[in-house]
Amino acid sequence: MSDLPDPQEAGRPYRVAMVCLGNICRSPMAEVVTREEVARRGLGDLVAVDSSGTGGWHAGADMDERALAALAGRGLDGASHRARQFVRDWASRYDLVLAMDRDNLRALRSLGVPEERLRLFRSFDPSAPREAEVPDPYYGGRSGFDEVLDMVEAAARGLADDLEKLLRR
Ligand code: 4NP
Repeated sequence: MSDLPDPQEAGRPYRVAMVCLGNICRSPMAEVVTREEVARRGLGDLVAVDSSGTGGWHAGADMDERALAALAGRGLDGASHRARQFVRDWASRYDLVLAMDRDNLRALRSLGVPEERLRLFRSFDPSAPREAEVPDPYYGGRSGFDEVLDMVEAAARGLADDLEKLLRR
């Protein structure tokens, strides 16, 4: 059984938000990877994944070019991404809100996201330690983005396993 929250509404895709700080590195990579993983399992029409940041400095910007390059290295395309800030109005919009780190988790809590719909993204990776975070790669080099993608892929697989159980039952 999955411990995912039930959909808020039947008959429309299950809504998942990926959230980091700037919405130019971690959460857009998590969005692209998870969308691909879900589509690969034939659940593409049942799940809607998007991403945003708790900070607004980069709103409207493309994905960081190191993130785009890391995705391209795995055959994935992030070119259509434009950064957005997660705003209070969205607190009840999603079935599931996934924070990349504990700072984002706290920020989302204070924006009013219900606790039962809020998780750390890496909590879906069965091999990750408790409370594991996706570290911010922004101030490092390109290799940090590949490490982040490894973590993101493992968490996306675990999440897709749970989504399959929830949505195919
Ligand atoms: P992200 O990375 O939260 O993974 O998108 C960051 C991007 C920008 C900044 C920090 C983190 N910044 O301070 O501008």
